[in-house]
Amino acid sequence: MQLVATPALARPTSALLDSYGRAGTDLRVSLTDRCNLRCSYCMPAEGLDWLPNADVLTDDEVVRLITIAVQRLGVLEVRFTGGEPLIRRGLTDIVARTARLEPRPHISVTTNGIGLERVAPALAAAGLDRVNVSLDTVRPDTFRAITRRDRFDDVVRGLAAAAAAGLSPVKVNAVLLRGSNDDQAAELLGWCLAHGYELRFIEQMPLDAQHGWSREAMITADEILTALRSTYDLTPHPAERGSAPAELFLVNGGPGTVGVIGSVTRPFCGDCDRVRLTADGQVRNCLFAREESDLRTALRSGADDAEIAARWRRAMWTKRAGHGIDDESFLQPTRPMSAIGG
Ligand code: GTP
Ligand code: 5AD
Ligand code: SF4
Repeated sequence: MQLVATPALARPTSALLDSYGRAGTDLRVSLTDRCNLRCSYCMPAEGLDWLPNADVLTDDEVVRLITIAVQRLGVLEVRFTGGEPLIRRGLTDIVARTARLEPRPHISVTTNGIGLERVAPALAAAGLDRVNVSLDTVRPDTFRAITRRDRFDDVVRGLAAAAAAGLSPVKVNAVLLRGSNDDQAAELLGWCLAHGYELRFIEQMPLDAQHGWSREAMITADEILTALRSTYDLTPHPAERGSAPAELFLVNGGPGTVGVIGSVTRPFCGDCDRVRLTADGQVRNCLFAREESDLRTALRSGADDAEIAARWRRAMWTKRAGHGIDDESFLQPTRPMSAIGG
């Protein structure tokens, strides 16, 4: 595992290469910056200034860009994110059209689970392969405190519906917050194991709209593992990690697992295979990128597929070696997590 990328002299070919030799094969498409929760580590209670509708790519524009990525740029996986992607009316149709592409990419959604109960069967029928659902606690009162909404039961029903629809493995993402749910790690793991969901804990990253992140408040990967080890025996998973953000452990010898995504203290940038497209058609070559590349203007001014592919390749080439959170010069990106999609 490389912590940061090392320079390569390769020149961009048809793939989405960067100057360190990494290839962007995992495209994360944000379909909206809106959300029906207000997680305290993500958004202020009053929400944010949402993107104007006219700036948001239409379904046809999204599908065109995905098609270029899959057919010209070597993208193998497409993940739909938000905000909350289930809010996007055209989601099922976008999934169906993505699933008809040749070569067919792997298709997943990262969602907060609200409304998943209703749409999981249609999404599975449209060709969705998997879902990741965000759930930070299995206590309704803690859920309400973190998300500022009383929707715990909806998420639980959404998870069950996803599993029933065969959208598996169903993964659960959890962020631990000091003084809120950081005493609930083992309890959440027990619940996920009992339901057959693959839990991963994520270190909180400096991507909240309020700029409230602090390193001292962040629950580190080490702390998470120590907390879990008070209840469970954890051993490193034998499977090759590859470019996955999550470091996997077998729980009590397996088959149950738990993952830790140590984005801050255990960075995995050297193996990154991600490329991001925002809901308003900007390419971000890193979660923490400070610059974006505008594809929407090109798209709307009649650029052909080859021209858009060339712009996209140029956007990737300048990807930095690592996120630089520990650098003196680190600046949080202007666009918050909710408008990038994680
Ligand atoms: P799968 O395990 O294949 O489902 O993928 P995943 O872990 O990428 O899925 P998900 O979208 O659920 O992301 C989980 C968490 O990992 C989110 O909080 C992301 O912000 C974080 N993450 C995903 N990609 C990156 C990345 O490129 N850099 C960093 N630092 N974090 C990432
Ligand atoms: N740091 C880490 N994870 C975050 N998420 C949202 N904001 C942050 C943050 N600042 C998580 C959500 C969701 C995933 C897409 O990212 O909980 O599971
Ligand atoms: Fe919505 Fe996800 Fe942000 Fe929570 S973390 S407010 S679910 S976008």
